[in-house]
Amino acid sequence: MYKKKQMVEVEIIDLGDKNQCFGRLEDGMSIFVQGPAAVGDVVQAEIFKIKKKYLASRFRELVKPSPHRIEPVCPYFGLCGGCKWQHMDYSEQLRLKRKQVQDALEHIGGFSFGKDEDGDGIECAACIPAPELFGYRNKMDFSFTDLRYLTTDEIGIDPDEHDKPLDFALGFHAPGCYAKAIDIDHCDLSTEEMNMTLNTVREFCLEHRSELPIYSTRSHTGELRNLVVRHGGHTGEFMVNLVTSTHSPELMAKLSEKLQAALGDRLTTFVNNITSAKNTVAFGEKEFVLYGPGFITDRLGDYTYRISANSFFQTNSGQAEKLYMQILETAQLKPDDIVYDLFCGTGSIALFASSHCSKVLGVELVESSVSDARENARRHDVENCTFIQLDLKDIKHIEEDMREFGHPDVVITDPPRAGMNPKAVKMLLKIAPAAIVYVSCNPASLARDGQMLCEEGAYRLVSCQPIDMFPQTNHVESVARFEKSM
Ligand SMILES: C[S@@+](CC[C@H](N)C(=O)[O-])C[C@H]1O[C@@H](n2cnc3c(N)ncnc32)[C@H](O)[C@@H]1O
Repeated sequence: MYKKKQMVEVEIIDLGDKNQCFGRLEDGMSIFVQGPAAVGDVVQAEIFKIKKKYLASRFRELVKPSPHRIEPVCPYFGLCGGCKWQHMDYSEQLRLKRKQVQDALEHIGGFSFGKDEDGDGIECAACIPAPELFGYRNKMDFSFTDLRYLTTDEIGIDPDEHDKPLDFALGFHAPGCYAKAIDIDHCDLSTEEMNMTLNTVREFCLEHRSELPIYSTRSHTGELRNLVVRHGGHTGEFMVNLVTSTHSPELMAKLSEKLQAALGDRLTTFVNNITSAKNTVAFGEKEFVLYGPGFITDRLGDYTYRISANSFFQTNSGQAEKLYMQILETAQLKPDDIVYDLFCGTGSIALFASSHCSKVLGVELVESSVSDARENARRHDVENCTFIQLDLKDIKHIEEDMREFGHPDVVITDPPRAGMNPKAVKMLLKIAPAAIVYVSCNPASLARDGQMLCEEGAYRLVSCQPIDMFPQTNHVESVARFEKSM
């Protein structure tokens, strides 16, 4: 009989759902362990939930380290929700990323992997590594909260004795804790300019606390919401975007001066996005440009892309080129092909594909991304790409646009983490292109949508290539090819 709060010793043998670790106790009982454990570790874990078939527990102490365990470089490791895998060496991260993709496709999607005696069947390829393991992010989104997340060492300290205010934080949320953020002054995935900006903006906001109170998700009052910094990985251009509830021209002009003084020529644009949304998503309803052109550019392969504050762009410029080459290789485009690039963002995949096919239709929800995509095509004299703003849940409209544009031979789809709306998957089944290239940053969504494509034998999965866009994290991108069954 197990009891809550009981400590047990267990060897971690696998990863479980939601980045938990998994092990088996001597009597065969399954146990999930939350916290910074690694496969191969022996740990002490404290049970907090008892079910008939499994126990849920929290990591308490390392008894024997895995051979793949390394010392995390970040002082916030274990607290911050970002780099959950800093304690594993990179070969182990890559192994687990590939495994995550294959496990999801097998367990959620019902696909099988492995070659039979005749060499038929598919393999999930080894995960393509990233060139930079730290400092690779070209975008960081820091949150303001009026409740600072306290470390275990800080809990219980007299409120007057804290080094930092208790009611101000600029940084990252601890996992599952949206009302509080860990106040950080440095992130190893950021560039030097990003870290410098983080500290300059914090200093400014603390100096002007009465005029710039932090937005509270409880009372829905206050100003400061997010600080988003973007950097052109291949151009060095740098954008600061402060997201607030309203626009205060004098204060923003002062902040602009402070940023220019701190960053010099390295700052190329500063914008203030404002939003009235009752959530913490850093997406502006209106934008004020305080310095520079209001956008940055970045280069991938032969193309330079314009990127506005609210437009999606791959967050790892170094690895995005490899991802797009992989998408092209997987798409196997022919010169006469009509291609659809669904969820096209700033049109980066469409542009990469444009010289390999007859024409491309890019579809995207966000207005600024669509105008960036059009501008990106124009500045490269690419005339065979058309971009439309459309919610991909709106099936009726895409059918109308499709009639006008032409039936696709290949559809490349790159949805957000949640995957495609079932209506959009049904639409793909209805228009039935010869091949669908599904680009996904969430193996579970890929598996679920892939299953929908393949049920009733309409499509079959023919290849799956994981690629690491986000070293030190448990996230993995993959590119899968589905072909229409004959
Ligand atoms: C993962 S990003 C892919 C962007 C692009 N393919 C790239 O590589 O840069 C997903 C994109 O889908 C867009 N999006 C989200 N929901 C959408 C919807 N319902 N209809 C159309 N586009 C949507 C987002 O704005 C975002 O640009």
